[in-house]
Amino acid sequence: NLPIKGKTTWKAPSNIALVKYWGKKPVQIPANPSISFTLDACATTTSISFEKRQKGNDFSFELFFEGKPKEDFKPKVNTFFERVEAYLPFLKDYHFTIETSNSFPHSSGIASSASGMAALSLCLMDIEKMLVPDMDLSSFKAKASFLARLGSGSACRSIEGLLIEFGMHDHIPGSSDLFGIPYPFEVDEVFKTFQDTILLVHKGEKQVSSTVGHQLMHGHPYAENRFQQALQNMDALKPIFANGDLDGFIKLVESEALTLHAMMMTSMPYFMLMKPDTLAIIHKIWRFREASKVPVCFTLDAGANVHLIYPEHVMETVHQFIDDQLAKHCENGHYIHDGVGLGAQKI
Ligand code: PMV
Repeated sequence: NLPIKGKTTWKAPSNIALVKYWGKKPVQIPANPSISFTLDACATTTSISFEKRQKGNDFSFELFFEGKPKEDFKPKVNTFFERVEAYLPFLKDYHFTIETSNSFPHSSGIASSASGMAALSLCLMDIEKMLVPDMDLSSFKAKASFLARLGSGSACRSIEGLLIEFGMHDHIPGSSDLFGIPYPFEVDEVFKTFQDTILLVHKGEKQVSSTVGHQLMHGHPYAENRFQQALQNMDALKPIFANGDLDGFIKLVESEALTLHAMMMTSMPYFMLMKPDTLAIIHKIWRFREASKVPVCFTLDAGANVHLIYPEHVMETVHQFIDDQLAKHCENGHYIHDGVGLGAQKI
């Protein structure tokens, strides 16, 4: 009862972690829980055309990135297929043509693994759904998140919006190390329209891949304390979200970003992923916030770019601040305005 051929397309967004996931156990089990805002504008669109073939011993697929064959993505997809085959037994029955593109510019320093793996997983779930037609929407999403996690841990937070939690936490009902869940507690309206402007300080390849980065937490002298801190920060966020406590939010989110970088600076080997312009931006944010009382703060990924996050009601003032003071620290003056989004969409 397998369909002979077909095509499916999904658009999945990127996400930005507030409490960071850094450190994992095999296979893709997070060392601590994390939570992210799902983004909107920064997204990957992926189509899979599938055609039935004689079942083979290997996976059969072609890959196109922004219209051109992309050989160097193939090993990552192949590893992903190997990991998910046990859960998608039809994979070797098909030849796949995978076409993918990002909404954000190529080599902007924005990682596309979260949005990319989420979009790919959703396309594969569409094929799975043809085989299991009575699957309900929540099982569909949970399994898509489960598969995406096997591609890239943070990708499991890119299926749904607005705030997604990933990783077991005793105080968070439904939380799991295997997939992301919509944050189950009360969230004040102010957080539901939060904005994220990504300041592109450095557009080159990341100095440390996240695979290497997570490994640095093995045997790291501060790892255990860091994992405990993440658990505590997840607890601390509960009243912050419920009460719309922007001061509490700012302190926690900036501390998380700096802790992520502190872990990289104190691992062996050690890395410094901030650039002088990253620091200049951080200092300007602090000065601006102090002087204006505008509730704007930063967070960082494992790279030099800065995510400037702020409530929608201060958008105009913050955009002016970016143009006046921060854009000059971005490579070619580039930044991307984004905001909290609702999750992936079938196209
Ligand atoms: O999903 P990965 O393995 O690329 O890890 C993501 C790590 C951070 O982006 C630094 C933090 C996070 O929680 O997204």
